[in-house]
Amino acid sequence: MSKPVIILAIESSCDDTACAVIKDGILLANKIANQHVHEQYGGVVPELASRAHQQNIVPVVDLAIKQSGIKISEISAIAFTRGPGLMGSLLVGSSFAKAFAMGLGIPLIEVNHMQAHILAHFIKSESHTQSPSFPFLCLTVSGGHTQIVLVKDYFDMTVIGETIDDAAGEAFDKAAKIMNLPYPGGPLIDKYGTFGNPLQFKFTKPQLPELNFSFSGLKTGFMNFINNETAKNPDFVSQNLNDICASIQHTIIEILMSKLKTAALQTNIKNIAIAGGVSANSALRKALKENEKQLQWKTFIPDFQYCTDNAAMIAITGYFKYLKNDFTTQNITPLARYAL
Ligand code: KG4
Ligand code: ZN
Repeated sequence: MSKPVIILAIESSCDDTACAVIKDGILLANKIANQHVHEQYGGVVPELASRAHQQNIVPVVDLAIKQSGIKISEISAIAFTRGPGLMGSLLVGSSFAKAFAMGLGIPLIEVNHMQAHILAHFIKSESHTQSPSFPFLCLTVSGGHTQIVLVKDYFDMTVIGETIDDAAGEAFDKAAKIMNLPYPGGPLIDKYGTFGNPLQFKFTKPQLPELNFSFSGLKTGFMNFINNETAKNPDFVSQNLNDICASIQHTIIEILMSKLKTAALQTNIKNIAIAGGVSANSALRKALKENEKQLQWKTFIPDFQYCTDNAAMIAITGYFKYLKNDFTTQNITPLARYAL
């Protein structure tokens, strides 16, 4: 019997320090240290993120190894996020990965974070067993990216639509900030929106050609709306929080879904996946499911733990690269921007 392939993966692109261990494609451990230090600033503070990564990385890796039950000597390769992301954050994870791989004398694998969000659909664990077949479309929606990707194979991905300004996650977070909610605001808008009327307030949607998105106009429109209403009634936000959250969420999801439907029609693809932090949004997950019935789509929605940043997605991508002998060298550098 051949030796199992065990990948230890590190993710540190933004404000989560994460480590996962995967054995022959099956997840053994998935640990994450979230950084709460940013909540009070209304967004990620890059320098604080780098420092927190430095503090968290050894304990997180240690926990993941212990939980996986593997011996360090059994690890086949170290995978790490090369980019895109914050340079200071990426440097912590990549330096750790390089040193670990060098110390153990095993190969190093670099991973594109956005590719990994999509390949999260192939993680196999007790709760996550169904993966899309190729070709499929993936709406990747995170704090930094909004893309519609045509996925023909594990590493054959083409961006067919993307945002020309803010990302969908940013639209959620900025709307939350305007309402004085802490960072990250996306999950809070989702939480309050569940109890509100999505049609109570109307916001203008952008008219963009092709499959591209824009969210900056919506943000300005939302800010003007809140400013006008609070000038009339200083308690407007607190008195209408659920309806405001439901309405802005509904608008963002309509913008996303309308482009996704066009992409599905243009490509004649009915295998539709979502990925990235915003794919945790309950209204987006529901909207996708509704189209399963209406448009005969087969939809793929990741488990919550694989939507937002995690190292399991880096590990599965590293595993597929290991099978192709796709290794990198010790002189590799992180990339703040890294196209698919
Ligand atoms: O993928 P991710 O964890 O990090 C990046 O690569 O950016 O995505 C983070 C983004 C944040 O903007 C956060 O507000 C958003 O995902 N997010 C959500 C929800 N959970 C996370 N947005 C809306 N609804 C949610 N439930
Ligand atoms: Zn991400």
